[in-house]
Amino acid sequence: MKRIKIIGTGSYLPEKVLTNDDLTKMVDTSDEWITQRTGIKERHIASQEEATSDLGVKAARRCFETFDIDPKSIDCIIFGTVTPDKLFPSTAIYVQKALNLPNIPAFDISAACSGFIYGLAIANGIINSTSMKRALVLGGETLSKVTNWNDRSTCVLFGDGVGCAVVEESHDQSGLLSIYIGADGNMENLLHQPAGGSRNPATFETVEKKLHTIHMEGNEVYKYAVNTMQMAAEKALSMANISSEDIKWFVPHQANIRIIDTTAKYLKVPKEKVFVNIDKTANTSAGSIPIALDQMNRDGLLKKGDIILIDAFGAGFTWGASVIRW
Ligand code: ACO
Repeated sequence: MKRIKIIGTGSYLPEKVLTNDDLTKMVDTSDEWITQRTGIKERHIASQEEATSDLGVKAARRCFETFDIDPKSIDCIIFGTVTPDKLFPSTAIYVQKALNLPNIPAFDISAACSGFIYGLAIANGIINSTSMKRALVLGGETLSKVTNWNDRSTCVLFGDGVGCAVVEESHDQSGLLSIYIGADGNMENLLHQPAGGSRNPATFETVEKKLHTIHMEGNEVYKYAVNTMQMAAEKALSMANISSEDIKWFVPHQANIRIIDTTAKYLKVPKEKVFVNIDKTANTSAGSIPIALDQMNRDGLLKKGDIILIDAFGAGFTWGASVIRW
């Protein structure tokens, strides 16, 4: 098996910032409630004209420029998102078109917050089983477009943004030491967008009832998130034969600071090794991990040889974790 490694990262967060105080003018909430329950202080919101692929293209261009990667060297585009530009064709197609990379395969993955890790797993398979050498893996959302801005139990939680990574075969010790993904459809109704697909096509009624927005049983999701993120992380660590003490950075999905803190505690990872940016980004679903990795990369936090554990959980439920030697 070839081991793949990340050779560049990029991210893009829309310009507009919506603070907790701004939200208090829209729904019955407070900065104190949101901060204490979630750790979120602000989130970025896409403009009306910005679709998910627009954010993805900006993230990819930043990655190519910063890490001096020739876009023409990309063999495949994989986009983890549940807020596609259109139900079809895929959002990756629009990225391909904007980057002018004709003929290479481009497709989306619907795995909610685990979409980026699913994307890495698929890129790993493609690089190992075809003649393709380099993949652009993106993850991210414009969740603001499917948020019910009258529902205080969900509208305070999410933000927009896309992150990405370019991966290729590693010829040294660096790269993905393990990758583990999974899913359980039995709890699909705890976190979903009820209408807009073939089960519930769009009608005046579905729009009136706001069935095209995020519906979530937060309490239930919380319980599964903590236990599943611990399980996924432990599985990825054991597959890589790495102990949690060897981790330099734990980069969990940024859904809720309490989920992050509890998972880190279960894994016995001390606070100073846990990367957190949820205060500035909120939950960007599939964007959360690649945005975090790019921020860390740009801030010089990732050094060659560092062991990094990424860990995600999302609607489906889906989950994924990977141990990476940087
Ligand atoms: N402001 C003020 N009060 C609120 C708000 C708000 N924004 N939202 C809910 N409340 C109220 C509720 O109405 C309830 O009031 P009541 O006691 O009078 O009935 C009270 O606060 C407590 O509500 P809970 O839902 O029990 O609050 P909880 O402590 O569970 O926090 C939260 C809610 C933050 C959603 C939490 O359950 C959570 O984070 N769950 C996980 C969600 C998650 O991670 N989802 C994403 C994972 S998958 C993905 O990323 C797509």
